[in-house]
Amino acid sequence: MAVKSLGVVMNGVTGRMGYRQHLVRSIIAINEQGGVELSDGSRVTLAPVLVGRNAEKVREIADRHGLDTWTTDLDAALGDAANQVYFDAQLTSVREKAIVKAIDAGKHIYTEKPVSETVEGALALARLAGAAGVKNGVVHDKLFLPGLLKLRRLVESGFFGRILSVRGEFGYWVFEGDWQQAQRPSWNYRSEDGGGIVVDMFCHWDYVLTNLFGRVESVTARAITHIPQRWDEKGEPYDVTADDAAYAIFELAGGVVAQFNSSWAVRVHRDELLELQVDGTHGSAVAGLHHCVIQPRTATPRPTWNPDVVDEQRYREQWQDVPDNSPPQNGFKAQWEQFVRHVVEDAPHPYDFLAGARGVRLAQAGLQSSAEGRRVELPELSL
Ligand SMILES: NC(=O)c1ccc[n+]([C@@H]2O[C@H](COP(=O)([O-])OP(=O)(O)OC[C@H]3O[C@@H](n4cnc5c(N)ncnc54)[C@H](O)[C@@H]3O)[C@@H](O)[C@H]2O)c1
Repeated sequence: MAVKSLGVVMNGVTGRMGYRQHLVRSIIAINEQGGVELSDGSRVTLAPVLVGRNAEKVREIADRHGLDTWTTDLDAALGDAANQVYFDAQLTSVREKAIVKAIDAGKHIYTEKPVSETVEGALALARLAGAAGVKNGVVHDKLFLPGLLKLRRLVESGFFGRILSVRGEFGYWVFEGDWQQAQRPSWNYRSEDGGGIVVDMFCHWDYVLTNLFGRVESVTARAITHIPQRWDEKGEPYDVTADDAAYAIFELAGGVVAQFNSSWAVRVHRDELLELQVDGTHGSAVAGLHHCVIQPRTATPRPTWNPDVVDEQRYREQWQDVPDNSPPQNGFKAQWEQFVRHVVEDAPHPYDFLAGARGVRLAQAGLQSSAEGRRVELPELSL
């Protein structure tokens, strides 16, 4: 079968996500496996054009991976008709402008989340892409995590009966940067640079909840800055202007209540950095990035509250592992393959700019809820 090639302009490949997850673990990995397989058995390989502001850094990455197409000139890359897709993993704050340029150049767009810093901006991009007739997609990587794939399987099998509630715990300690280097770039802690845990994580929670349990109909949140001073990449102290933790209640269509703690100022006493507990009338599950355990109604123990007696139950041991049943693969790569099929043969890719706008809206509403101390309702979002 024939092999086609698709030119992909990749902006932001010197960054954490752009380099590791998108270039190395997705684009290069796809090419190493012989490309993306289409429905007729033919394959599409990807021809990345690396774009960045710093020639040295971009050239070094290109050399490291034997790639000869890189540039600091985004306009030139967009002007080349062989490049049909524009991908953006830049800082959130500079994304919208670059995407507008790429849409104007007639490129299909795939982007890291959040698609824009504002709902208005995200909707404007969705409308612009629609009017230009270009395909558009936003990263929804968490849905492809092995643990969440197992959770989806449980939901679709009816395992839970009626789902009552979801409890999400996400976070870990991000070092302040003084005596140990921070694990995240400093812009994450400056709201003027697009930082903040609400902006970062609520767009993930929106598509996770919507796709697994039901549309998010309201949010009540408290966003807070626990650590007011941090040290940047050069070791300079700076004031933290963005939230580093958020405590939220999301009410979903169908009556499910979801509570999420998201924090970069929490120490981990969990099996994984993200864990979701789902309780239903017929069973419960706890899913992390990789693992998932269940406890059906028929195997539920009978705890009794008695503070005078040491509890002999080994609660964690009473759960059963859900197997993978198929080899786990990188979620970013899986979504790239889905998007490429969408571009080349119009296969479905439901995670478009409008879905991205919903995520941005949830983040904006979360911050509003926190600032105003009230529950914020979220009507259906449309173009
Ligand atoms: N899907 C996920 O799980 C996930 C996780 C982390 C980050 N992200 C998203 O990915 C994007 C990049 O995050 P990251 O953690 O890789 O950040 P990073 O700081 O490591 O990388 C940022 C990239 O943007 C480029 N850039 C362009 N213009 C810039 C400017 N004016 N100032 C500074 N840098 C500029 C940098 O050169 C670099 O290549 C963000 O939008 C973030 O929300 C997604």
